[in-house]
Amino acid sequence: MDVQVTFEPLARKVKVRSGTTVLQAARRAGVAIVTRCGGNASCFMCKVHIEDWTGLAPMKENERRKLSGLEQTGTRLACQTVLQEGQVVIQLPPDPLRAAIAKQLAQRQEEDTLW
Ligand code: FES
Repeated sequence: MDVQVTFEPLARKVKVRSGTTVLQAARRAGVAIVTRCGGNASCFMCKVHIEDWTGLAPMKENERRKLSGLEQTGTRLACQTVLQEGQVVIQLPPDPLRAAIAKQLAQRQEEDTLW
């Protein structure tokens, strides 16, 4: 069975087989998700946000332990999240460098409006 995966905000789509992890799907779609542990659930760097878990396999205890409550906000580890069926939308976290630049620009704009 195939799963249609969309990576937002890039609007990048890929179709993968059931049983593929989100990290594998990202690589197949050419979407960069930085990791250090090679997908062994130990670096915690592959966090993504998934609002609707309908098309996902049940979360395993290892991932639940690592997330320690963060899963309740929709956070999942891309290396441990297994795609199962249907259509799944993955929200990628903002690029840390771009987020830092955007924050600095916003602060500068705020300072400029005070003068
Ligand atoms: S790749 Fe390291 S925790 Fe997922």
